[in-house]
Amino acid sequence: MTRLADSAPHAVRVIAPATTANLGPGFDCLGLTLDLWNVATFTLGGEGIEVHVVGEGSDVLPRDAGNLMVRAFRRLVDEVGAPMPEGLRIDCEVAVPLASGLGSSASATAAGLLAANEFLGRPVGAGTILALATEVEGHPDNVAAALDGGLVVVVNGEEGLLTERIEVRPIEVALAVSQLDYTTTASRAELPTYVALADAVYNMGRAALVVEALRRGDLELLGKAMDDRLHQALRLEHMPGGMAAMAAAREAGAAAVAVSGSGPSLIAFPAPGAAVHDVAAAMVAALARAGVGSRPFTLATTDRAAEVRPWPLAAGVAATDGDASGAASPGLSRAAPTVGAGFEITEHTADLGLRVWASSQPVLFEQAALALSSLLCDPATVEPRETFTVVAEAPAGSPDALLVAWLNELLYRVETDGIVLSRFTVEGLTRRYVSARAQGEPIDQRRHQPRFTVKAATYHDLSVRQHEGRWEATVLLDV
Ligand code: HSE
Repeated sequence: MTRLADSAPHAVRVIAPATTANLGPGFDCLGLTLDLWNVATFTLGGEGIEVHVVGEGSDVLPRDAGNLMVRAFRRLVDEVGAPMPEGLRIDCEVAVPLASGLGSSASATAAGLLAANEFLGRPVGAGTILALATEVEGHPDNVAAALDGGLVVVVNGEEGLLTERIEVRPIEVALAVSQLDYTTTASRAELPTYVALADAVYNMGRAALVVEALRRGDLELLGKAMDDRLHQALRLEHMPGGMAAMAAAREAGAAAVAVSGSGPSLIAFPAPGAAVHDVAAAMVAALARAGVGSRPFTLATTDRAAEVRPWPLAAGVAATDGDASGAASPGLSRAAPTVGAGFEITEHTADLGLRVWASSQPVLFEQAALALSSLLCDPATVEPRETFTVVAEAPAGSPDALLVAWLNELLYRVETDGIVLSRFTVEGLTRRYVSARAQGEPIDQRRHQPRFTVKAATYHDLSVRQHEGRWEATVLLDV
């Protein structure tokens, strides 16, 4: 019997995205991930089940075993024959609007299943998680997109669900998130058991074209293909102002528009050059004219999927400047900004940020390197057996460009040399170059547990400031 091992993590954090299903003709078969995230932290301990919710639905979501995240958690625990933990607390930051056609229940289901699997040492694989998610949630399209990321085609195969994930470059979308009370159950009850062959053919061809249009980011083709004869018209009869809002979206520059999932929200894909905010506002205004309240959302599609995050995040403090070696205490304390030098990791749902401070620029760079390495794996497990020379160049010749170049050079070295690093000494620093000694060792899968896959340091929200003898930097990392 699988059970919580003594070495099981005490807390697990999961992020899980919003999704939109159907995409017009792809009824029950297509799901697309949106860059809007629920964050749930599961902590073992105490007695009984406690759910704390902030954000969307905080006044209505169940706080007990009836909560969907708990039900999904329990489903996986039961599946592997493990006992439910005696005490479980879940802290949720809910960003995905409930019962709106944006996959909020798929997001919660994915979070509960992934958390339980993590606590139990990952006894089941992706296929079982998808099957359990579909059982808990009822339909596979939103859950497949939440678990896989990107555009997902899902069908019932001979041996369970067959899914194909298609990467899509981020596409902006405009949504009118409707406040109408129109549940998936109510909405499905309207749908016929049998459909005309001509209507099925109409949808099949268009569904294939929608996939290809999204794959290559061809909004003109998407506009021609995103139409449906199986479910939208029936659903729109129960969505006052829905047809008018779809027309308004097109007038405001949408190339394509659809009912999002089973509704009642609408999703539109602005044509190149159209303003996404205008499209969202046009839909909201049209719904308002029909007496239906809605909120405009502008989001992007994403290839990222629900994932388990190492938790707690790393933070470290060097008590005095110049003592940046081995000073990090990953996963433990929050660094106090008043201490001479240190760093903290900040979370922006899908991305991670570093905030670093020091009283000199070389120490700032050392701290940034420590912060980055603490995200890659626990620095306490890294022996300083070998010394590597790392040189980074920023042709732009500015401290912020140099910091990004330095972090990206470290990522490159870690990746290409197969090493892990834990100590850094900056030996030379100009506006354009930084050279340093880095100590670490070749990666050893048994001792070095990977934490995050950091793809790159980015220029987004980048800042390096020197103020009253103190250096401070913030950098956003693409993970
Ligand atoms: N494909 C589903 C529907 C979406 O249209 O009812 C909800 O999972």
